[in-house]
Amino acid sequence: MKKKVNTNFVKIVSLLNKGDYHAGETIGDKLQVTRSAVWKVIKKLQGYGVKVDSIKGKGYALEAPLILLDASKIKSLLNNKKVALHLFESVDSTNDYLRSLKQSQHIQICLAEQQTAGKGRLGREWYSPFAQNIYLSCLYPFQKDISELAGLSLVVTLAIIRALKKNGVTENLFAKWPNDIIYDHKKLSGNLIEVQAESHGASRAVIGVGINVNMLSDDKEIQQPWTSMQKILNTYNDRNKICADVINELLSCLDMFNQKGFAVFIDEWIAADSLSKQVVSIKNANHKVIGKVVGVNEQGYLMLRLQDGKVQTFSAGDTTIIK
Ligand code: BTN
Repeated sequence: MKKKVNTNFVKIVSLLNKGDYHAGETIGDKLQVTRSAVWKVIKKLQGYGVKVDSIKGKGYALEAPLILLDASKIKSLLNNKKVALHLFESVDSTNDYLRSLKQSQHIQICLAEQQTAGKGRLGREWYSPFAQNIYLSCLYPFQKDISELAGLSLVVTLAIIRALKKNGVTENLFAKWPNDIIYDHKKLSGNLIEVQAESHGASRAVIGVGINVNMLSDDKEIQQPWTSMQKILNTYNDRNKICADVINELLSCLDMFNQKGFAVFIDEWIAADSLSKQVVSIKNANHKVIGKVVGVNEQGYLMLRLQDGKVQTFSAGDTTIIK
């Protein structure tokens, strides 16, 4: 089930976010909506797990800051104004939504406040609580055959690192092949890419990006060490500006990758690589290989030197550093 964002909802939350307690009647008068419409928004917020305090005679107050995603704010910050933006209050998965669109030759972006079936790599779930993080997907038509997209995940990782640096996380950010962004050994972001072959050597990719932005707790849903921008920076972050930077950096990197391939990103990858020279185990489908990381090749494959001295390349898998 998917739900589009309602403008009254965004306006009421924006008012609640300012100052202290707000009486339902005052909110209604200011925004020209009925008191019952305000009450419905409060109930909806509570349904999504947002803590709203209410005191008789004083009104409602948010217990923590909350700025919702606003499509017009994000669009105003985009370099490419032609991008189609689909914003949902709730959707199963932003990747699945874009995959369900009829053949489109245009770049499309989908954002959601909540995903009810957020997907991670290798069949894992991606925890997607309401209005805390960024759940963003981009449909991008490539003039490339599917076989040339191996380095895409790495390029996306670099684009997100660029956007994170622009938003205050300037140090200690590392890429973990192929798709993780790590801060202080904890996961801050990941991407999931789903590709479809088109005719005449072209392909369409749905690129899904998850960034932990304001999340402070996870009700023990996440099975691996994680962090968030709020944990790192000690401040609440407006996701609108971060989303716009992610989209701008992503599209600039994707255009470059579409024209020139992964080779032009190798130096940037080496500078961000957390696995360089480490002994790692790589697990894919049904086997596990151990070796020392030599680097990545011009296609973005991971190169490992095995115990017998031979170098083997890997196009996919889950890597773990062996101490
Ligand atoms: C991973 O690290 O395992 C990949 C995580 C990808 C999560 C994002 S959130 C937006 C998009 N929609 C999904 O269902 N998954 C991706």
